[in-house]
Amino acid sequence: MSSYYMPIPLAENDDEGMNHETKVPSGWSYRFPFIHVFTKKNHILWLNMWLLFNTIFSVVILFVALSLMRRAKELPYRPVPVYSPVREDGAEHYFDTQYQPSKIFQSPPSDQVDKAWHDWLQEHDHMFKFPKHKAKQVGLPETIELYNDPGYGAYGLGVYHQMHCLNRIRKSFYPERYYPGESQHEVMHHTNHCFDVLRQTVLCHGDISVVYWWNQNYTFVDQLGNRRYTEEYLRLSPEQRATGSFVKWDSKVQCRDMDAINAWAKANQVDDDKYGGQLVD
Ligand SMILES: *[C@@H]1O[C@H](CO)[C@@H](O)[C@H](O)[C@H]1NC(C)=O
Repeated sequence: MSSYYMPIPLAENDDEGMNHETKVPSGWSYRFPFIHVFTKKNHILWLNMWLLFNTIFSVVILFVALSLMRRAKELPYRPVPVYSPVREDGAEHYFDTQYQPSKIFQSPPSDQVDKAWHDWLQEHDHMFKFPKHKAKQVGLPETIELYNDPGYGAYGLGVYHQMHCLNRIRKSFYPERYYPGESQHEVMHHTNHCFDVLRQTVLCHGDISVVYWWNQNYTFVDQLGNRRYTEEYLRLSPEQRATGSFVKWDSKVQCRDMDAINAWAKANQVDDDKYGGQLVD
């Protein structure tokens, strides 16, 4: 009981008709439980307390906001990506992998090499169809109409155009094999634009995977599975090791999942037979 701890009022100071508790110094009324809440005198006190609460609350909100703003600044900048129907349809996936030198794609022209390129392009290098009214909504440029698919326009994905261009450049190195009837000028006309396509693609994607320099003759793996230096490596000076090394690009890298993109493209593919068949070049 709070009254146990109140000063005992002197009888002569005791106002008539007032009980002892209203005489208590203001701060004392706020002990729990709040029994005296609605007495007249306490109105001011409650107003003060409400203002105090508001002040503290505002200060706390201010600090929370400031710390959130600082945290937001530390987060990496995430640009809003440009529109792609592949992303909109949830077919943009990433996975961690490693570049792996491929024997077939490092070989000089042969029927086998041609087949590897041709099979991939024939399977994947198609146009996709996209509703014309939606293209306008999402800001895609106007394209030729698929006249046998009313209401649809013809579009393609950059990756397929770039693969086409890479193959085109490859073939232009061997014009007598791939373009026997064409002049040098005709062959290079298309190829030159492909250099620029790939130049800008490489720079745009700014691959930051890490390459390094080594020579396979410098190390071997022993029977216990330990990586060991060869005698040759130990014999060479640091300068000799450097000049005998080659750039290695079997880097760890995060890639977009081409299988998912290919599946999306297949699901939205234009039926080439309606338009005179696919042109793989
Ligand atoms: C590794 O050593 C062999 C034998 O000396 C040599 O023929 C070969 O060219 C070397 N390989 C490389 C990548 O330097």
